[in-house]
Amino acid sequence: MNIYADSKMSDDQRCAELYRGAIFVHSPSPSALDLCRLARELVEEAFRPLDPLKVHESLPAEKCAEILGVVKPKFIHHPDAKRYIRGMLSELGCDLDNTYFDVPRLRTAFPGDYLKSGIAYAFHAHRDTWYSAPFCQINWWMPVYEVRADNCMALHPRYWSQPIKNGSSQYNYHKWNADSRHNAAQHIKADTRVQPHPEEPVELEPEIRMVCPVGGAYQFSAAQLHSTAPNTSGVTRYSVDFRTVHLDDVLNRIGAPNIDSACTGTTMGDYLKGTDFSHLPPEAMALYLDGTESKYVLSPSIA
Ligand SMILES: [Fe+2]
Repeated sequence: MNIYADSKMSDDQRCAELYRGAIFVHSPSPSALDLCRLARELVEEAFRPLDPLKVHESLPAEKCAEILGVVKPKFIHHPDAKRYIRGMLSELGCDLDNTYFDVPRLRTAFPGDYLKSGIAYAFHAHRDTWYSAPFCQINWWMPVYEVRADNCMALHPRYWSQPIKNGSSQYNYHKWNADSRHNAAQHIKADTRVQPHPEEPVELEPEIRMVCPVGGAYQFSAAQLHSTAPNTSGVTRYSVDFRTVHLDDVLNRIGAPNIDSACTGTTMGDYLKGTDFSHLPPEAMALYLDGTESKYVLSPSIA
């Protein structure tokens, strides 16, 4: 596996490498730092007067889930969040006319068993391509506060080319949006939402844990097996992640190889153009629609 630091490759070259399993790490750019500052401001305001890194020491988990249920969507839909992503992509050399991104998610990983479900879901080992992501999707991950090896995210590179028996055939993104996404904050102690899991023992080691500075980001293919590393640090981890696709690759159906995903539906409707935040053109979308998108619709109360 190749790891590139502050590479100046073109989008085409970089994507081709990512589709071969490479990782790209970027030093903090001004807009990436702005995005992290926005996340910290919202989190600190939400938990005041508590230290956001230590809320698990004094706040009941139910109350914490309630607060996260407000602050996480607030971050996702904050108008500045999209502008900062645009700035960050531009500063890191992406062609904004060809790069589409989805809204950034604010993630938390609490120490021990404090809160690992629903709104603070501790992700089991998975590929995003088991969750209806296209094979050209690139994931971006960056810490909001300083992270350590014992509270970050892990990649499991041996499975880049090794299939895993998994439950992705039961997953459809449109069904997930219609049934499960909106009630994440209700899952405090256990998460009963159906998600694709490995269905055979998985050897998580060797692992790669990228420890970046605040605002430092790394990119990896949506087909990489990855998971939330168990947080044994004693402090809460806050991170931001988002996804991008490159229009040329969407149109040409280029991406990482599919070795074991059988989900239906597509997340293609989520990506926004780097310049004007418009959706992918209909001819690009049409290549990925499989008919299930009209089968599952949001109930009017949550649409
Ligand atoms: Fe993921």
